[in-house]
Amino acid sequence: MYLFQNQFMPKEQVPISPEDRGYYFGDGIYEVFRVYNGVIFEPDGHYRRLEKSAKDTRIALPSSISELNGNLEELIRLNELTEGIVYMQITRGAAPRSHPFPKQAEPVLMAYCSPMARPLSTIEHGIRAITMDDIRWLRCDLKTLNLLPNVMAKQHALDQGADEVILHRSGTVTECSASNFMIVKEGVLHTHPANHLILHGITRDVVLKLARELSIPVQEQPFTVENVQQADEAFLTSTTQEVTPIIQVDGQTIGTGAPGAITVKLQQAFAQLIP
Ligand code: PDD
Repeated sequence: MYLFQNQFMPKEQVPISPEDRGYYFGDGIYEVFRVYNGVIFEPDGHYRRLEKSAKDTRIALPSSISELNGNLEELIRLNELTEGIVYMQITRGAAPRSHPFPKQAEPVLMAYCSPMARPLSTIEHGIRAITMDDIRWLRCDLKTLNLLPNVMAKQHALDQGADEVILHRSGTVTECSASNFMIVKEGVLHTHPANHLILHGITRDVVLKLARELSIPVQEQPFTVENVQQADEAFLTSTTQEVTPIIQVDGQTIGTGAPGAITVKLQQAFAQLIP
């Protein structure tokens, strides 16, 4: 079953218009929630970010957060989802194609569930990444449907035989195509500050909090591609990929070529949070 506005219906009956501005302009926002054991993980962080994306794109949320949360919980129940994700998007609505915000259109909310196991193999063994120019706009903190640069970047990695990209602006590393990026150097955890150049990941926040609890020093300061090549450890964080080690960058081994000690410590602490 899908959620459309505040009604539940089979996918085939979701009445999304060909004039939906999400389709024409990518004029919409979204969230991907993790579900463990039938329960949404870190819902408050996702709702806070959704409210910020809505405010800054001037898209009105079609319902209150508590009503939306009730609907997403009902969606999980109707689909009998135990382990997976909820994808939810809200577009500015449907109207004849014209750039200005339409006067009449109502925001369109659509959500569905998808079963998804934890990516245990990549969590354990790590992945390979390549670096690439970050050609996105300057509001990467908003979770909008405009993901063409992210899609192009991810495909570029796959075409090159790698698993992921590490994006940089003139040498300063920002994040990955759909995840945040961190390195460890001499026991210190480094990641890009949460400003307009990266998405403020919920998993990023959880991992930084765990690092502080474990007395691992954290530096939220920009660092370079060169720093990555000289790092002892590297990993990415996201709702779907949790804490995934990056063991090779641009063909060069990071650290020992196996997931690093601090990465594993953070993975173990993260796993403890999973219900
Ligand atoms: N991606 N950076 C980008 C560009 C992202 O798209 C995402 C999430 C993240 C990590 O954020 P979080 O920890 O809140 O999942 C960072 C989602 C999963 C996606 O688009 O599928």
